[in-house]
Amino acid sequence: MLSEVLLVSAPGKVILHGEHAVVHGKVALAVSLNLRTFLRLQPHSNGKVDLSLPNIGIKRAWDVARLQSLDTSFLEQGDVTTPTSEQVEKLKEVAGLPDDCAVTERLAVLAFLYLYLSICRKQRWTKEDLELINKWAFQGERMIHGNPSGVDNAVSTWGGALRYHQGKISSLKRSPALQILLTNTKVPRNTRALVAGVRNRLLKFPEIVAPLLTSIDAISLECERVLGEMGEAPAPEQYLVLEELIDMNQHHLNALGVGHASLDQLCQVTRARGLHSKLTGAGGGGCGITLLKPGLEQPEVEATKQALTSCGFDCLETSIGAPGVSIHSATSLDSRVQQALDGL
Ligand code: PMV
Repeated sequence: MLSEVLLVSAPGKVILHGEHAVVHGKVALAVSLNLRTFLRLQPHSNGKVDLSLPNIGIKRAWDVARLQSLDTSFLEQGDVTTPTSEQVEKLKEVAGLPDDCAVTERLAVLAFLYLYLSICRKQRWTKEDLELINKWAFQGERMIHGNPSGVDNAVSTWGGALRYHQGKISSLKRSPALQILLTNTKVPRNTRALVAGVRNRLLKFPEIVAPLLTSIDAISLECERVLGEMGEAPAPEQYLVLEELIDMNQHHLNALGVGHASLDQLCQVTRARGLHSKLTGAGGGGCGITLLKPGLEQPEVEATKQALTSCGFDCLETSIGAPGVSIHSATSLDSRVQQALDGL
């Protein structure tokens, strides 16, 4: 344990369709993105080990001996469960985080330690290891938003394009490599509160809200069908269907109460350029996706990104369907990633 450098990356993800509805047993389609976060764990001869999480600006160092003393007790616990308060206390002690440490940093470091002590001792992962990573990542999700569906951790673990339905995951075969804009409105939101808001609306107006969820389910299924068709025999009309599905779902999500003025603005700005957008994930701010049709000229894409940036948003162009969580050798990483890992 901890004798070699460990380099891990995981893809970003978006939900194409089915956010919120998935919490109520409907289908969701989620895809990984070609935008990755990296982690490096590097042992040193002085008995210390450095953790570097450059994407969230975290660097910490621990005594290897202390981590090793924790190791056995965690492995004894068998299957993955929610950590007991005793275990969390132990992790906090070893993590040695300062009192003024931000909550996000605290959670990230504790979740990392929790995961690391069970799974990151190998240089190659089997399917069973990935299943375990997925389960542990689900526990991390629970720490962050209470009662998650499991779709986020699944797509970041397995990569590609996934259909998620009541805990059952299947890969979409032959889905096309769609180009998208991922726009962060930078409006903070609270997933837990948004999920609870939808539940309350469903309880208050079951006759109104249940059909919306059923309709979102049908949108996911239609999108899945079209993506399959595009993988077999791509045709321009299929993009028109995807765009219509995006518009309909965005309206449904607004009706569920998870929209936000910033997301409306995002949709309007892209609509003015003939592009279609919807929120992705919990909504209430956060991120939106915009479908980029093939044949769109790069200057037009750049102008759209510029228009979104002028609204105060961050906008990234990327494609869907990246590999899931992966271990890397130090030599395989591109120099920008190396610099980010070294440069904190
Ligand atoms: O905002 P995110 O990326 O955490 O996604 C939340 C998706 C929901 O469907 C709203 C909740 C869930 O657990 O699936």
